[in-house]
Amino acid sequence: MAKGFYISKTLGILGIVLGVAAVCTIIALSVVYAQEKNKNAENSATAPTLPATTSATTSATTSTVDQSKPWNKYRLPRTLIPDSYRVTLRPYLTPNEQGLYIFEGNSTVRFTCQEATDVIIIHSKKLNYTLKGSHRVELRALGGSQAPGILSTELVERTEYLVVQLQGPLVKDQQYEMESQFQGELADDLAGFYRSEYVENGVKKVVATTQMQAPDARKSFPCFDEPDMKAIFNITLIHPANFTALSNMLPKDSSPLPGDPSWNVTEFNPTPKMSTYLLAFIVSEFKHIQNTSDQGVQIRIWARPSAIDQGHGDYALSKTGPILSFFAQHYNTAYPLEKSDQIALPDFNAGAMENWGLVTYRESALLFDPESSSIGNKERVVTVIAHELAHQWFGNLVTVAWWNDLWLNEGFASYVEYLGAANAEPDWNLPDLIVQNELYRVMAVDALASSHPLSSPADEVNTPAEISELFDSISYSKGASVIRMLSSFLTEDLFKKGLASYLHAFQYSNTVYLDLWKHLQIAVDNQTAIQLPKSVRDIMDRWTLQMGFPVITVDTNTGDISQEHFLLDPDAIVTRPSQFNYSWIVPIPYLKNGQQQESFYWLETQKAQNDNFKSREWVLLNLNVTGYYQVNYDAGNWEKIQRQLQDDLSVIPVINRAQIIYDSFNLASARKIPITLALNNTLFLNKETEYMPWEAALSSLNYFKLMFDRSEVYGPMMSYLKKQVQPLFNHFEIQTQNWTVRPSTLMEQYNEVNAISTACSSGIRECKELVSDLYRKWMNNPDNNPIHPNLRSTVYCNAISFGGEEEWNFAWEQFRNATLVNEADKLRAALACSKDVWILNRYLSYTLNSNYIRRQDATSTIISIASNVAGQPLVWDFVRSNWKKLFEDFGGGSFSFANLIQGVTRRFSSEFELQQLEQFKAENLETGFGSATRALEQALEKTKANIKWVKENKEAVLEWFTQNSQ
Ligand SMILES: *[C@@H]1O[C@H](CO)[C@@H](O)[C@H](O)[C@H]1NC(C)=O
Ligand SMILES: *[C@@H]1O[C@H](CO)[C@@H](O)[C@H](O)[C@H]1NC(C)=O
Ligand SMILES: *[C@@H]1O[C@H](CO)[C@@H](O)[C@H](O)[C@H]1NC(C)=O
Ligand SMILES: *[C@@H]1O[C@H](CO)[C@@H](O)[C@H](O)[C@H]1NC(C)=O
Ligand SMILES: [Zn+2]
Repeated sequence: MAKGFYISKTLGILGIVLGVAAVCTIIALSVVYAQEKNKNAENSATAPTLPATTSATTSATTSTVDQSKPWNKYRLPRTLIPDSYRVTLRPYLTPNEQGLYIFEGNSTVRFTCQEATDVIIIHSKKLNYTLKGSHRVELRALGGSQAPGILSTELVERTEYLVVQLQGPLVKDQQYEMESQFQGELADDLAGFYRSEYVENGVKKVVATTQMQAPDARKSFPCFDEPDMKAIFNITLIHPANFTALSNMLPKDSSPLPGDPSWNVTEFNPTPKMSTYLLAFIVSEFKHIQNTSDQGVQIRIWARPSAIDQGHGDYALSKTGPILSFFAQHYNTAYPLEKSDQIALPDFNAGAMENWGLVTYRESALLFDPESSSIGNKERVVTVIAHELAHQWFGNLVTVAWWNDLWLNEGFASYVEYLGAANAEPDWNLPDLIVQNELYRVMAVDALASSHPLSSPADEVNTPAEISELFDSISYSKGASVIRMLSSFLTEDLFKKGLASYLHAFQYSNTVYLDLWKHLQIAVDNQTAIQLPKSVRDIMDRWTLQMGFPVITVDTNTGDISQEHFLLDPDAIVTRPSQFNYSWIVPIPYLKNGQQQESFYWLETQKAQNDNFKSREWVLLNLNVTGYYQVNYDAGNWEKIQRQLQDDLSVIPVINRAQIIYDSFNLASARKIPITLALNNTLFLNKETEYMPWEAALSSLNYFKLMFDRSEVYGPMMSYLKKQVQPLFNHFEIQTQNWTVRPSTLMEQYNEVNAISTACSSGIRECKELVSDLYRKWMNNPDNNPIHPNLRSTVYCNAISFGGEEEWNFAWEQFRNATLVNEADKLRAALACSKDVWILNRYLSYTLNSNYIRRQDATSTIISIASNVAGQPLVWDFVRSNWKKLFEDFGGGSFSFANLIQGVTRRFSSEFELQQLEQFKAENLETGFGSATRALEQALEKTKANIKWVKENKEAVLEWFTQNSQ
């Protein structure tokens, strides 16, 4: 799936405007990736009881679960291996007499017996079987032999199985077919086969669509629902004749349903061998546009007819062909299928899902309207497309054997999405952005003692809840960061060689992560230019099998260099053991005397000495931040760097100017350097016009905002920011001819937004006038919005925050009428910017009313309110008093509890708040925290660290800001 940084970006934009300087990385200290998770954890807790069979013969329904019975284990036995399926599904897009939307289905699975057994165990979830004869299924043997009779069938709810007990054993190497008929609910739960709704020309429309990952294919038909149970799927959809049916493959045939020509039967070509989680079935009244890639792949973009008519799919269509061609070349492997469909769904839980040949998206991740979408929306579209298309090979053609290796799949896609998108938008410098969007973002989480290694043993991941927990920032962003590091020390060319050989060796089958290391090692061994100190596996084990990362410390007086596990809270106790004792093999590219050094320095031990680092000039390690670690220096070297930045900052690469800020603020948090040293590293900003260093400073200072926006430090801090941002504001005022044209590059456009938001929040008068005037013009003429899409989030939020009920109501009305989801999202975030508590409280109550706020957007809206200093206590009260109800009502898929906990506790920094949080945990132990369990532990740890930090730093910070704001 596509990762959640996209949502954090939306939130971030809100953060900017909300008050301070904060930008995208308001989320920097967070675990935000749950947006794209499946919430099966909660599903399984609330699954309705399925009809019990009268012929149950097992003990699975009794309270003590007998673990020796294979149907009580979450993992399938390997006795039966599927070869192919024939599945017919018929979704009804109008409710039945009971008011229920349902689908009917028939499914035949053909499988081979690997090991004699007298029980068939297959996944099935929330399906009602129509009995065939006296049992739920029929079984036959292929090739003329006789299948054993059926003794009984049973649905085991806990492990989500249909269990078929036989009168005799199945025979090894014999093929069988099992057939069943069933009904399921086409619910609005965003999981399995579900329905999405939208309104077109005042008429409610229904779409039947799917989200299988991770384990919800079993909710649409009985199947061996594990990623290495690859099979061929022959899909048929029965659908209203004037609707379009889509699936992974092109249709082979479509004809009227015999006896009822208002329905059509569309049969699709058989799929290649593939995993169940990548299936997709969609029945809709959508329209499409299409073209063909250079390699002859048919490309189509599907969306609501009005969106297609207005050209909102055009950008995606224009970029898909080039991205597919890029990846075919990058992988040295042709696109594996005959077509590539991409579809924008009004209701969708993840950011996007890489179903093979039929990728599903949130509308905001695929549709782009040049009239009203910002450059950030555009970047999101092109990077999400690149992410999902990267999976069409890495993930879909070659698939990890089990979810414990999810990090390889998602980390890899989260890395190469930057390469694919950069190929489609070559002027945007997108690969640089990985440093702020993935690396530093995830380091904030990975620097906690409660972090976890990238790789988990397969036997520790079993239940849907355990699978769901893997969809976090560690898997996505740390995965991306360490794979980028690997690619950088191997060189991209060598990396690509190993990658292609891995894909060729394992196409249509499954792997573990070690298979990739093995093929990269073969590529290394076949050449001599690149020498590694250890094998790929030895190096990478340190980064994947132990959590966290090191801080590298250099003393330029002696040339001493050392490493140490970096913990944001130095007093935190690491209870998780590491076989490597938290020591890493560290590749270090570096600058000395302003010159890039030829080769990497490899730090393989805890401590070392190297004369190259003994220097009277400044040295700078981790050039372009290709390494996943932080760097500290002796005080003298820090001062030399600061002097260089003041004298001529262009000598230090832009990414490293950002690094200096990020690393020093992290080091200060960990009490490795004084906080004033980190603050001194922001003094050069009055000469800085580049985006990344500003972004680094604003996101680092966002932590200060969260800690101090309820205290007396806030005033001097704002004065300092005002002083630093004034030149940047003036720079853009001139460059944009008084804010009428946009700067040319992506990063400049982002920085323009930073300049405005920081200027407004720090109290620059011209800024307040600018946003209030623009908003007023719009209010006076609602049909003609004069605000450039890039600036809308900032302008809306600030104008609503400076304004009152009238401004809020106007935005609410615009939100209710918005037809474009990008516009609606900006307004939805800005509505949380009000300073009036009663308005925020009313808005909070709207979030649980799905007529006002779509269920998929409820969490992010609540978090927006919580990120407003005036809204945060409201949300905390609300979460505390309604946890049980929230958990029960919203357990079914669309509600991200981990994000919610993380979002609402972000400001916690007093003993009182810690007590409240502990009490909250104690009071709700019975209800539980589901997928938020880890987030709650992290919140407790973070709160303790915040308390300490504020205690230790408040005075020094107050003094520093007071001194430096003159
Ligand atoms: C699915 O289609 C393939 C290819 O046509 C065929 O070999 C296979 O038998 C079919 N599977 C079933 C269960 O009908
Ligand atoms: C399933 O098969 C039965 C019997 O062949 C048929 O009556 C029914 O219409 C089929 N349903 C679907 C959804 O194909
Ligand atoms: C499945 O059966 C249960 C229990 O009889 C019923 O409540 C539910 O509505 C049924 N679902 C469908 C889709 O028919
Ligand atoms: C399909 O038919 C239904 C019922 O006749 C009608 O309401 C709907 O507008 C039609 N859709 C299209 C795309 O023609
Ligand atoms: Zn993904």
